[in-house]
Amino acid sequence: MMTDIVIKEVAARDGLQAQPKHLTLEQRQLLVEKLAVTGVPELEIGSFVSPKAVPQMAGTDVLAANLPSQAINYSALVPNMRGYESATACHINTLAIAIAATEQMNQNNIRMSLEQTFAMAEEMLIRAQADGVAIHAYLAVAFECPYEGAVAPSVVLDQVHQLMLHNPARLVIADTIGAANPGAVRDLMKPLIAEYGSERIGCHFHDTRAMAMANVYAALEVGVRQFDSSAGGLGGCPFAPGAKGNVATEDIVMLCESMGMRTGVSMPALLEAVALLSEFIGAPQGGRAHYWLSNNAV
Ligand code: COA
Ligand code: ZN
Repeated sequence: MMTDIVIKEVAARDGLQAQPKHLTLEQRQLLVEKLAVTGVPELEIGSFVSPKAVPQMAGTDVLAANLPSQAINYSALVPNMRGYESATACHINTLAIAIAATEQMNQNNIRMSLEQTFAMAEEMLIRAQADGVAIHAYLAVAFECPYEGAVAPSVVLDQVHQLMLHNPARLVIADTIGAANPGAVRDLMKPLIAEYGSERIGCHFHDTRAMAMANVYAALEVGVRQFDSSAGGLGGCPFAPGAKGNVATEDIVMLCESMGMRTGVSMPALLEAVALLSEFIGAPQGGRAHYWLSNNAV
């Protein structure tokens, strides 16, 4: 199906990585299977990170070996070259790398300096091109860092240009702690879309300050067409204090579809995935429109 908006479903990674309740591998597998039949074109299944750093993501290789039969784009997050090797050995050929815009966030997240992080990212991008691996380069804390405060748009633009020299399949501007506002999103995304086009740019929003949907709309208005979102609005980063859930997939699907933009996502199937997540987490999950959607979605 042709879609106007590309949704990358990240509940199985961003959604679970900071949860105090650690899902079993079997539960993660069932979640991936449920999400795979919602109609999302892209699904992040987990991350290849140190199990000491993020125990919630241990065993992503097992998930990679048992992917559902749906022909969608399965991806995973990797923090370093070791993760790249592990993921590609499991035939995951779309990889997300989180490159934080600030020194301290890189130190806390992946124990590398800003300089080392960019060197690692460049090495990976060059290698990926030779291997035929697609890299989604995430510029994390692109609006505000939990350790260093506001991040200047000029810094972010420079960093994007630096990364774009090595042709990532997608460059994703990530508001890791949910500190952006629609004006800031418009001002940052407009020049990026003008320079690189909608096909190479994406956005990743968190709803900490209840502005994720407004930020999505601001991004849509300036031509962004690729968004990360998480079923049920689950999400957060263990190394970014204060980060709340991602924008909920059901909310973003509702927003887009109600404005006539196709996402390819089946709302009833998505709500089933949210129900499964609620069962596994042991608490009700759901985006802002969950109550209404639960009673009205067809
Ligand atoms: N996958 C699995 N294990 C890995 C790994 C990877 N990609 N990279 C390193 N490791 C292991 C090492 O083998 C070592 O294991 P050991 O203690 O059993 O010997 C351990 O992790 C520490 O390795 P080291 O190179 O010293 O790394 P570190 O302690 O500096 O930690 C990271 C660096 C990147 C591995 C770790 O910080 C991490 O996994 N962070 C994940 C961040 C994340 O997922 N954030 C949320 C999403 S943005
Ligand atoms: Zn996130």
